[in-house]
This record gives sequence, structure tokens and C-alpha cells, in this order.
Amino acid sequence: MKALVLSGGTGTRLRPFSYSMPKQLIPIANKPVLEHVLENIRDIGVTDIGIIVGDREPEIAAVLGDGEELGLRLTYLRQDAPRGLAHCVQIAKDFLGDDDFVMYLGDNMLPDGITGAAERFREVGPAAQVVVQRVEDPRAFGVAEVGAEGVVERLVEKPQQPKSDLALIGVYFFTAAIHEATDAIEPSARGELEITDAVQWLVSSGADVRAQEYTGYWKDTGKVDDVLECNRELLDHLVRDVEGQVDDESVLIGPVVVAPGARIVRSFIEGPAIIGPDSLVEDSRIGPHTSIGAQVSLVGTHIDYSIALDGASVSGVHAVHGSVIGRSAAVSSGDNSTRKHRLVVGDHTRIEVAA
Ligand code: DAU
Repeated sequence: MKALVLSGGTGTRLRPFSYSMPKQLIPIANKPVLEHVLENIRDIGVTDIGIIVGDREPEIAAVLGDGEELGLRLTYLRQDAPRGLAHCVQIAKDFLGDDDFVMYLGDNMLPDGITGAAERFREVGPAAQVVVQRVEDPRAFGVAEVGAEGVVERLVEKPQQPKSDLALIGVYFFTAAIHEATDAIEPSARGELEITDAVQWLVSSGADVRAQEYTGYWKDTGKVDDVLECNRELLDHLVRDVEGQVDDESVLIGPVVVAPGARIVRSFIEGPAIIGPDSLVEDSRIGPHTSIGAQVSLVGTHIDYSIALDGASVSGVHAVHGSVIGRSAAVSSGDNSTRKHRLVVGDHTRIEVAA
């Protein structure tokens, strides 16, 4: 079995971060979403992985390389524009050959893994298997109508009036039968070749298509609030590991990770929280549910339920909450005597100031 990971697309909902980095590289618990995805695939014994990339290929390749460090063999497959998930399968045809494959959307997090779904696919041997989860409002997703034994009766992409609450959650198991389907369908109303339509084509032509319900934690990390929520979930499973320096005046409570080279000075950290390599935390109060990247500087700052990316700095700011601070971004309290805010803010940035 091979794997196809989809990491193209534009990521408009994750602006401003998606201006400077592909959304699939946003760190959750200090590890890019894509790396979590690749580890889940490795856990089902698949190491030959094609990655669909758009014009952000250089940044993705800079982080993942040829995959050797993760014990994988990665092949980058360039998509000229986001023409849809089924278009991704089309351009991966030569790479995939006649093999079965798992297709995984590169911005979806399933921290409980996909081993159950993979076993079921291998056991039952259908033409295709989608992974689904019950959701309150399925209108933003592909929706599956499922009969006895998980047999898929109908699939609709983002229906206005869903007939079921089973959403497709970004992981699909395919045999080579999918290639005929992706060639047979036409672009949807939004101008994309939909994988949902391709799987529906298989259903209509009488193929055995199954749905496997996943009851673990799942998040499409396409929006900032979802990134924070997913970070909270992953940190809830954190195990304490202190390798950096913590001075005598600091207190660490609960599961806290202090990476090598990090320094904690006169600070209070309430886990779960991660402080990345070579970061400085001084006279600050951190956590819970906070991930601090590498080479971050936090001085005189209170921050919780937040993510600070590599190279960021925050100084003299209290009550930072629900925030994502971008790479090398600087936030400071400035000159208090003027009682004025000074903001140098990029496009599509969102700032909420406590007045
Ligand atoms: O999150 C699950 C949903 O993902 C499913 O329920 C839907 O059925 C499925 O169509 C998909 O919907 P989205 O609208 O959320 O897909 P999105 O455009 O966000 O793309 C998903 C991933 O695939 C993302 O990592 C970008 C990548 N992608 C997307 C397109 C359209 C590509 O690599 N190439 C593309 O052409």
C-alpha cells in the first residue's frame, strides 16, 4: 500500500499565517500538522508516500526533505493550481500505479490514529473506504449516507440539507478502481474535481464502498480557533520532560516540557505546556495549554491557551489568551507613559485589545 498526502491549496482561512507558511506546517504541540499526518501513515506500515504540493513546495520540502528522518520515502507531486481532491489523484496516477493507497488531507488531525480503519479496509477488501465521524452540523463537509455493514449508499459534498450526520473526515482508502472514477467525473459548482463525486461514481456503478466510523478526536485545522483547540487536545496527553535549565526561583506544575537549550528564569509554568529549544522565559507566567516554539523570548509576560511560533517575542504583556503569535513576530507593552497602542500589523491580521 502507498499513501497520498494532499498539501496544496491556498489556506485563505488561516490568514495571515498562510501568507508566510503553508497551513499544513502550522505547529500543533510544536510539531507541524504534516508531520503528525505522516506519523499516522507510518503507524499503519506505509512508507512510500506521495505529497501533493502547490507553489509552497520549497517550504514543505525544507521541513520534510526526502522523509528519511521519519523513516519514509517521500515523492513530491506538483499541482499547478488547487483543482480539487480528485485532480490530486489524477496527477498522482503514475506514482500510485495499480497499488491500493490511503489518501490523507494534509490539514486534518486524527491523533488517535488510523490503524483501526486500515485494518478494516485490509480485512473487508472493498473498492473504496471512507472514514466518517458524526458531527452536529455536516453542511461544511462531504456527507455519507450509510446502510447496514457500513455500506455507503450515497455521498454528497457540502449539502445544504444533509440526510445524515456522518461527515467525511479527510482519510480515504482506495484501490486502483478510483482512477476510472476520477477520469469520469466533471468539475463541481465550485469548479473543483471533487473526490466525493468520484467515490459517488463508484457507488453508482455498483462498486463496494464502505464507511468506517472514527470515534476518536478529529480536527480540520483550517482555522485559527481549530488550531488552538487541537493544540489543547494534544497537550492534554503531554508527559513531563525537563531538559533545559530551570532556576531555583521558578515553579513548574504538571506536565511541562522544557526542551534542551531553553531557560526558565523566575517564572511559573502550569502544564500542560511546552517550551521549545533555545527559548527564554523570564519573569513570566505560562500555561496551561500553551506551546512555545524554538528561540522564542517571553519576558514579563502572562500567556495561556496560546501558540508562539519560532523566533517570536513577547515582552511586558499580561493576559495573552487564545492567541497565535507568528514566526519572529514581536509583541511588547511599549512605552506605558503615553498609554497609546502602537501597531505595525500585516494584512488579514486579527488583534483584540483589552481597552
Ligand atoms: O476536512 C474534511 C473535508 O475535506 C471533507 O469533509 C470534504 O468532503 C472534502 O472535500 C474536504 O473539504 P475542504 O473544503 O475542507 O477541503 P480543502 O479545500 O480544505 O482541502 C483539503 C486539503 O487538500 C488541504 O490540505 C489542501 C489540499 N488540497 C486541496 C485542493 C482543493 C490540495 O492539495 N489540492 C487541491 O486541489
